[in-house]
Parts: sequence; C-alpha cells; structure tokens
Amino acid sequence: MVEIKKVCIIGGGLMGRQIGLAAAFAGYEVLLYELSEKVRDDIMAWLSEYLAGRLAKGRKTKEQVDDALALFKVIDSLEAAAADADLVIEAIVEIHDAKAELFKKLDAIVKLDCIVATNSSFMVSSLFKDCFCDPSRLLNCHFYNPALVMQFVEVVQGDHTDPKYAEAVVDFCKKLGKTPVWMKKEIGGFAANRIFAVINSEARYLVENGYLTYEEVDLACELGLGHPMGPFRLMDLTGIDLSYDMMKAGMDKGGPKPDCYDLVESMYKKGHYGRKTGKGFYDYQ
Ligand code: NAI
Repeated sequence: MVEIKKVCIIGGGLMGRQIGLAAAFAGYEVLLYELSEKVRDDIMAWLSEYLAGRLAKGRKTKEQVDDALALFKVIDSLEAAAADADLVIEAIVEIHDAKAELFKKLDAIVKLDCIVATNSSFMVSSLFKDCFCDPSRLLNCHFYNPALVMQFVEVVQGDHTDPKYAEAVVDFCKKLGKTPVWMKKEIGGFAANRIFAVINSEARYLVENGYLTYEEVDLACELGLGHPMGPFRLMDLTGIDLSYDMMKAGMDKGGPKPDCYDLVESMYKKGHYGRKTGKGFYDYQ
C-alpha cells in the first residue's frame, strides 16, 4: 500500500483547518497553506479556542492536544507546504478556475508519487486531470462539515485514477476515525450530496412558491423526518457563499435559475454567509 506520512492541506477555511487538525490528531505531519493572512491568524485563534474546549470537556488529554499542536503547522508558502507531502488535500473555494490554476502550480511542486485529492463538494477530479502530467494520483476525497465530527467521507476515483492511490486515501480516512465509501465510478456531487440535492430542491420549491416558510421547511425535516438539521439551517452551517457559488455555477453552465436563488443572492451580497458571519437564514450572535 502507498504510504502516507506527510499531509499538505491547501485552504484553511471552514473545511481545510478541520481536516488538517483531524489528520494531526491521527498522527500525521500536517502543513496547511492558506493564502490570506487574516485567515491564517483566524486559524490560530480557532485552534486555541477549539483545543481548550476539548480539554475542558475532557474529550482530549493534554498529551493528545500537545502532540496534535506539534504536528499541525499553518504556513504562507505553497512550495514549502507541498514539496515534501505524500498527500495534498485541496480545500480552497468551490470555483473551478481557481482550483485549476492552483493544481497547475502544484503539479510543478509536488513529488512524483504525491497523491492529490480535492475536497470539492460536487466537482469530479477528472475536470482537473489536464492540470497534471500524471493524473493517476488525482482523486476526490470529500469530507463532510464539520470535518472533525462527521464520520462520512467519499473517496472517488475516476478513470484516470490509479486504484492504489484511492486505496491509500481510504486507509488514511480510516486512520482519521472516519467511515469512507470508495466510489469506483465518478459522478458529480458523489453520494450523500446527490441524495440531499433532491430534498434541498423540493425544500426550495416549497419556499419559492409560498407553500411554507424556510423555518417551517426546517421543522418538517427536523421534526417530521428526524433529520438533525433542516436544509436551510444546514445552508447556514455550510455557508451561504458556497450555496451561492454552486447555484451560480449551475446557471453559468446554462442550467435553469434555481428556486430561492434571489433570496440566497441577496444574503450573499449583504455578506450574510451563515454561521461563520453570525447571520444567515438564522441569527447566531
Ligand atoms: P472557505 O471559503 O471557508 O475556505 C476556503 C479558503 O481557501 C479561504 O480561507 C481562502 O482564503 C483560501 N484560498 C482561496 N484560494 C486559495 C489558494 N489559491 N491557495 C490557498 N488558499 C486559498 O471554504 P470551505 O467551506 O472550507 O470549502 C472549501 C472546499 O471544501 C470547497 O471546495 C467546498 O466546496 C468544499 N466543501 C465544503 C463544505 C462546507 O460545508 N463548507 C463541505 C464539504 C466540502
């Protein structure tokens, strides 16, 4: 089996920082490259607060926290973060061209046998295979939010992926304490998000056409179906900016205007991105 020891995470937003910390807790050396100085500072503040909380609740020992801290570094150089990595996990914004530009740079930096995984929510890795001299190391590894908590991960290989790299990433996910599914055939949106998309589309239809408010839709899902969170509360958690990017990408490709697009766009324009900004469909201040 291909051995993974050093992990590079690119993008330290909501997902990247949590995937990185989960890997450090599992004993991997993690270098996280984040473009924005503000976000780098924010990760350090989040880290102290999160780890102090784990200690206070007795969920982690002082030794586990110290070990993870020693393994987890946030840096401002892509070259330094990726050059020696066995596995790179890309977790930057969900914009195709931004990811493609990054992957082209990355191809010139990483070792020849370094695995490159994208955490994209819906883009299959074959969309980026031309960015690499050897795309056999390229695949999807899609964590769920919050990545430190959620068990499920989709590892998706395309026709271009060598299964031995997918197997190594499946093993990596298991070492993080996750339960991965290994999809051996690519499909955009993968498993859980495809199923959820159908629920989400119906939820937005009901709101757009005045049958229910978004609060009532969330109640129907939470109290009627037993879901831990309704689709609108979940959008606040995953980020209104992400929902907007995904809706817009669909329209830019010639798709129809999704229900609730105007509502999501107006929230996006006001900077109401959900929990991370303190306001979305609901208030968090
Ligand atoms: P985010 O917007 O919170 O974080 C993205 C980070 O990447 C930002 O801090 C940004 O400064 C940084 N960045 C942008 N371009 C960069 C570059 N070229 N190099 C280094 N850093 C760069 O996004 P989030 O929510 O963490 O999502 C990241 C990826 O994970 C996306 O592809 C998204 O679709 C996917 N994802 C998101 C989930 C969610 O619930 N938010 C769930 C599962 C996957």
